[in-house]
Amino acid sequence: MITNENRSVVILGASGNLALTKLLPSLYTLYTSGALPQNFAISGYARTEMSVDKYREIVKTNLLNNIEETLLVDSFVQEFLKSIYYFSGSYDSVDDFTNLHAGLEKIHEKFPCKPTVLYYLSIPPSVFEPVIHSLRECGAIEKGDTSKSVIVEKPFGYDTESAKALNKTLDQTFDESQIYRIDHYLGKEAIMNLMVMRFANLIFEPVWNRNYIDSITVSWEEDKNIGSRGGYFDKAGIIRDVIQNHLLQILALVAMEKPSSYESDSIMAEKNKAVKSIQQVTLDDCVLGQYISGVCGGKPVIGYTDEDSVPDGSNRETFAKIKCAINNTRWSGVPFYLQAGKALTKSTTEIIIQFKEVPGDIFKSPHHPNKLVIEVQPDAGIKFFITNKVPGKGMVLKDVKLDFSYDDGFNKAMPGAYERLILDAIQGDKTLFINYEELIHSWEIFTPILEKIDSGNANVFKYHAGTNGPDEASEL
Ligand SMILES: NC(=O)c1ccc[n+]([C@@H]2O[C@H](COP(=O)([O-])OP(=O)(O)OC[C@H]3O[C@@H](n4cnc5c(N)ncnc54)[C@H](OP(=O)(O)O)[C@@H]3O)[C@@H](O)[C@H]2O)c1
Repeated sequence: MITNENRSVVILGASGNLALTKLLPSLYTLYTSGALPQNFAISGYARTEMSVDKYREIVKTNLLNNIEETLLVDSFVQEFLKSIYYFSGSYDSVDDFTNLHAGLEKIHEKFPCKPTVLYYLSIPPSVFEPVIHSLRECGAIEKGDTSKSVIVEKPFGYDTESAKALNKTLDQTFDESQIYRIDHYLGKEAIMNLMVMRFANLIFEPVWNRNYIDSITVSWEEDKNIGSRGGYFDKAGIIRDVIQNHLLQILALVAMEKPSSYESDSIMAEKNKAVKSIQQVTLDDCVLGQYISGVCGGKPVIGYTDEDSVPDGSNRETFAKIKCAINNTRWSGVPFYLQAGKALTKSTTEIIIQFKEVPGDIFKSPHHPNKLVIEVQPDAGIKFFITNKVPGKGMVLKDVKLDFSYDDGFNKAMPGAYERLILDAIQGDKTLFINYEELIHSWEIFTPILEKIDSGNANVFKYHAGTNGPDEASEL
């Protein structure tokens, strides 16, 4: 018998950065908040050989380093660590996975009834295929059995064809209903609030269209250089790393029609439709950039190609601004700008809804059209810029800001994105995960330009680290 009260989470790649700094701290926070069921087990699997005690010690150190002090109650930490197990083995050995499977069965015997099992693939893409093959061949997974599911981390492929190939691999073992493709941006409060803001407030829907909105920008900026991450980043670039996934997902939530209900299937259907309506982009719709030396975050920074981890002469884009068009009744003619860059002036993610000018303006004093800014990070909030009369004689107008911040408005800590999404996956809620159809559409939009960039057939402008990117971006 399977009940909601028994859960087992298996982290593959358990010795890695993601597992130790995000996944296990998130599971601990869920545990302390009482969100995990009474009977649960977390089992790690990786190649690194170590005892369960050693792994628990490593997990404890990472909890201490990654969790707010107030949540670190010693008795909770000790209890949590007792639910953690560790197995080592190769990713391509069916025998090692058979051992893992047997070990899990033994752990599950302690449960009053059979738990649901969630496998988290926290591994590099190069070992996805052997891991999925080993899981199937050792008998751990049966296609269509929703008591066994899998969370897959991005990157979901490299382009349209590789995403289809990855899915073919997944499809041999899992049914789509068992697959949770995670994009942690979808678990951020400000992003989850987009639907509430649009559909639980009367004032937005009538103006949320081409008649009132001039442009929409989704922007992701980081004031850090690449440093030692060049090995990974140089193969991907900023479009694959940020735009094709995080920013496109945000765009879909901003642009989609109202779903028929707040149910996973209805939301996914509307998001799919929105992504499908986005036109394929060409190089004429893009400005690409690569940083050269400058001052970033108050520190001198060497140029991208001077980083030890980056191949000499690389033409890889560290900045991109892309103009997207949505071909539907609501958005035809409204440019959607997706912009992301490394080594810029600040680290922020925001959505800017720029409204049109008021037709037939009767005031002589200059003023700007309304602007709504949804800040996603570092400080989540909503700012609305309106025009106001400056007090005093005469009619002088000024833009003023209505300012809401989550910190002031709710005065409580925001749950982490991983925390939220892992809990959703444990509970079988797919609302905030990406389905196959949407994934393939999202690759189809960018694959033609990615092919040109990869083959060196794209113009990449230089910009100094610590600036707003190449000057050409403002001309797009
Ligand atoms: N870190 C993040 O914040 C983050 C964010 C979004 C997505 N992701 C994605 O999540 C996955 C895991 O990220 P991560 O940062 O934890 O990665 P990681 O530390 O590089 O790798 C995770 C584990 O996989 C094993 N591994 C590493 N390289 C391997 C190789 N070449 N062949 C076989 N096994 C290898 C290692 O364990 P053993 O050697 O012990 O087997 C390592 O501990 C990746 O797909 C990454 O793209 C990570």
